[in-house]
Formats: sequence, structure tokens, C-alpha cells
Amino acid sequence: MQKYKSIIAREITKLLETVKEADIETLIEYPPNPEMGDLSLPCFKLSKQLRKPPQAIAEELKSRMKPDGVERIEAVSGYLNFYLDGARFASSVIGEALARGERYGSRNIGEGGKVVIDYSSPNIAKPFHIAHLRSTVIGNALYRIHDFLGFDCVGVNHLGDWGTQFGKLIVAYRQWGDETAVDEGGIDELLRLYVKFHEEAERDPSLEDEARGWFVRMEHGDEEALALWRRFVDISMAEFTRIYELLGVSFDSYAGESFYNGRMDPVVAELREKALLEADKGAWLVRLDAYDMPPALILKKDGSSLYHTRDITAALYRKETYDFRKAIYVTDYAQNLHFAQWFKVVELMGYGWAKDLVHVPFGRVSLEGASLSTRRGNVLKLEDVLNQAIAKTREIMESRPQPIADIETVSRQVGVGAVIFHDLGSGRIKDIDFKWEDVLNFEGESGPYVQYTHARACSVLAKAGAAGLALSEIGQAPDEAALAALPINEATLRLAKELSLFGERVELAMRKLEPSIVARCLVDLAQAFNRFYHECRIMAEADGVRTARLALVQAAKLTLANGLRLIGLEAPEQI
Ligand code: ARG
Repeated sequence: MQKYKSIIAREITKLLETVKEADIETLIEYPPNPEMGDLSLPCFKLSKQLRKPPQAIAEELKSRMKPDGVERIEAVSGYLNFYLDGARFASSVIGEALARGERYGSRNIGEGGKVVIDYSSPNIAKPFHIAHLRSTVIGNALYRIHDFLGFDCVGVNHLGDWGTQFGKLIVAYRQWGDETAVDEGGIDELLRLYVKFHEEAERDPSLEDEARGWFVRMEHGDEEALALWRRFVDISMAEFTRIYELLGVSFDSYAGESFYNGRMDPVVAELREKALLEADKGAWLVRLDAYDMPPALILKKDGSSLYHTRDITAALYRKETYDFRKAIYVTDYAQNLHFAQWFKVVELMGYGWAKDLVHVPFGRVSLEGASLSTRRGNVLKLEDVLNQAIAKTREIMESRPQPIADIETVSRQVGVGAVIFHDLGSGRIKDIDFKWEDVLNFEGESGPYVQYTHARACSVLAKAGAAGLALSEIGQAPDEAALAALPINEATLRLAKELSLFGERVELAMRKLEPSIVARCLVDLAQAFNRFYHECRIMAEADGVRTARLALVQAAKLTLANGLRLIGLEAPEQI
């Protein structure tokens, strides 16, 4: 489809010398229904510039154009509508999909440029909750999408493993904790201690000072403090690792906040040298009044570092280590100000690459209407969510007359897919109210629906294989003549269009940093496939038509699999 956009834009530019090709290309739309053409130019958008009524522009262009591959042009109510030569279009799409296979839809936009993606980044000693799931799945999808488009990605899990909260936990552990309870209870027990700290500190504010003291000891390398801290890290990492395995997510680096302990002094010195640091009641900060922002705190009164200090240090480290072209940070929008502040500080330090730092915010998650808070212990644990989704999938699958062989693996793939898709499916900035009912609804626009459609395509191809059709016949490598036998009807054309839009949508998802664009595109593709499947016979057709339709099924199957992979879902062949 995109190719036709450029062909048409080029021809129009030649005819109307005063317009720019790129402008025309962006004006061309894909009409919502095929009666209005396969591509359309809204001429009223040119009317002012050309000083002519839209319909006159449309009619003039219509009479003078003959773009290659376009069968018919209509000028209707100021729109110039183009109707493609369906057979030619469909066979070129299928041919390209089959030829490129797993790479279908990819483009080398990145040319190997480095992109550092900071995502997931849960906090040690706190449960991995549903908000971290959003960061994990959005970040993972952005990683895969950039990789598919030729970027060299570095996935960083910037673990929240440093900060005053560890001082609090040490105080709580020493007063109310015990070793066996922590061994047995894991993060749940650490969370109980953390919540207790906050309850007690309300009555006895001196606990807060004590906690700060312990964090200062950690920053100074005190062994007793660090030994406790290390235990908290190990317990948490064991749980996080289990979740990442379930989700199929991995990272290139686990350099979290603690990694920058010992690396911050030179950065603080640099801020001071560049006259950015200002003393304020014993603390040190960078004023940002000129940019309408509160100051960025760099050092506390007791000399300890803050979240800002560690992020600035990490950015300098990453620039030096990876020389990134773009550094992406995926967190909820509650951190918008935090990122705006320290991005500005890096800019004020004189680093031109500050413009390459990108915050990708997403909406918050509430649980059946109530907000989630670690401090009050109201958390939704991701592991429970995933396990329930897997159990429900298994139940559905077991209730079938003929359950499939590897039910364990497939329930995991589909159950986890449901949760990931629920999180990715709508625009990332939207708040999500987490309702079990929605997550476990596998009908309609859901991950399982797309996965199921992929499995349906696989089963069509498997049946063809079982019926003894040669490999070339089941659509692995049909030649042009074979594809020319494809009968063109509305369902077929729509499926071919969805297939052809795939690469364009992936690129848009990358530019907008919005994986939901790929998720939506998969739902459209699945719907188009299912319509084709219901309306067009395959195996009952004569040889030529059957082969061409099988090739289309194969193209749809591999495109669905590519898209699922890009958003972090698996594509089982049987469900
Ligand atoms: N650990 C933080 C949190 O859970 C997210 C860290 C995001 N990354 C960063 N470089 N600040 O809120």
C-alpha cells in the first residue's frame, strides 16, 4: 500500500508542479470502506494552495493520471479515489511475505544505531506488581520493534535497589523481622516489614532518622548494612527471575541504582564545576525555576544521593558505554516531572545528546476502582495474575472434546498472552482499571483471539500437508503464475491489504513509541483472516485456486506470528 502511495504522489507532483511529493504522500489516506477506493486523496486539503475548488482538482487529476497498478480512479465529492488492480496487488503482497518470511515487515531504518531501553526496573523488596508489568511489556515490545527495524538494542533493567527505603527495611528487619520468616515468606514478608515500618513511624518519627542513618551507612560501604541489603536483593531477584521466565522477557544489563554507588562523586563534582549546584539548608540541588520546574535534588543534608543523582549518573555512564542514538525510559506518568527535571539538568551540563533522552510514560493501573499502593499493602501481585490466567486457559482447553497434547505449554503461552495483550492493547497513556473479568475475557480484541487465529491458519496448512499436497503447493514457494490464480473478492482483498499494511504499522509503532499500534494491527489482520476463512473455500477448490489460497493463508500465518513476536507473545501452532 505504501508503495502505491509513493507512486501516486510522484505522479501528482509531476502534474501539479507547485506541490511537494512528501506532502502529497502524507495526505493520501486509506478509506475506511472499499467502495471509497483503496487509497484516496482529500483534494480539499490542496484547495487553498491551488486556489481551485476540491472537485475541480480531483477531476483534473483524474483525467490526467495513469498510475501503475491502479485499475480505476474516481473523483467524488472532492476526493480522488484510487482502486487497485486487486489481482496484481494481492499476488505481489503474498509473494513478498513468503519470500521474506520471519523478516516480513522489517526494514533497516536503524542501520545498526544503538538504542538503550530502560524498562521493567522493579524495586527490590517490593512485590513485582501490575504497574511494573506495564513497563515490562511495553519496554519489551519497544525493544523487539526497534530490533526488527534494524536498531541495535540494549535492554537495561534499572533495578530499584538503592535508596532510603533500604534503610527503612533494615530498621524494620532488625526490630520486628526474623530470619526464618524472611526465608519462608520472601518478598511478602519484606513487604509486611516495610508496611509495619510506615505504621510505626507515624507514631514514632525517630524511626525515619534511624532509617536515613542506615542508608548513609550503606553508601559508606558498611558491611553490616550491606549484608542485610544483599539478602533483600537475592530474595527479590529469585522472585523477579521467575516472573521474567514466565513472561519470556530478558535483559542485556541488570545495572540498577546500586551500580552507580561510587560512580556519583565525579558527577556531583562536575555539576559543581559547571556552577549548577546550589546549597539549600545543607542539601544540594540544581535550580530549575527558569524552566518552571521545582529544583532537582542532588544530595541530601546527610550527603546521601537521590533518585535524580543516580539517573543522571546512569545516563552519563550509558552514553559513554553504549554511545546510544536514543535512550528510552519506560515508566508510569507519575514520573513525568522526575524525567523532565533531570533531562534538563543533563542539557544544562552542556550535553547535546540530552535531546536523545526520551521518556515513554504510560497510564496508571487501579484495581477494580481502588488505587494501588505499596505502602498501604494494597498490591496486585503479577505472579498471581499470571497463574490465574494460565489456570483459566487450561480449564477452557480441558473442557474441549479433544484436548491437545501439550496442554501445559500452550496454557502458559495463551494465559500469559492474554495478560500481556490486555496491558498493551490500548494506547499506553490510558489509565487501566484492572478487572479480572476483562483480563480473562478471551473473545474479541484479545491476545488469545489473535493466537487462536494464527493456530487456525496453521491447521489449514497442516490439513493441506496431510492431504498430500507438495510443499510448493501449500504455499511455501509458489511462483507468480500460481499466485495469479487467486480469485479476487472483497474478503481476499481486505486480507491482502491488512498484510501489506503490517510493515508500515510497525514503523509507526516505533516512531510513536506505541506498541498498541502493532496489537491493533494484529486484531485487524486476525479479523480479516477469519472473514476470508469463512467466506472462501480452500481445500474443496480446484488445484490452482487452492494453491493460491493456501499461499495467502501461509502469508497471513507468518505475518500474525511476526506481529505476535514483536509484542512479546508466543504463537503456538495448535490451541
Ligand atoms: N524503580 C522505579 C520505579 O519502580 C522505576 C525506574 C525507572 N528507570 C529509571 N531510570 N528511573 O518506580
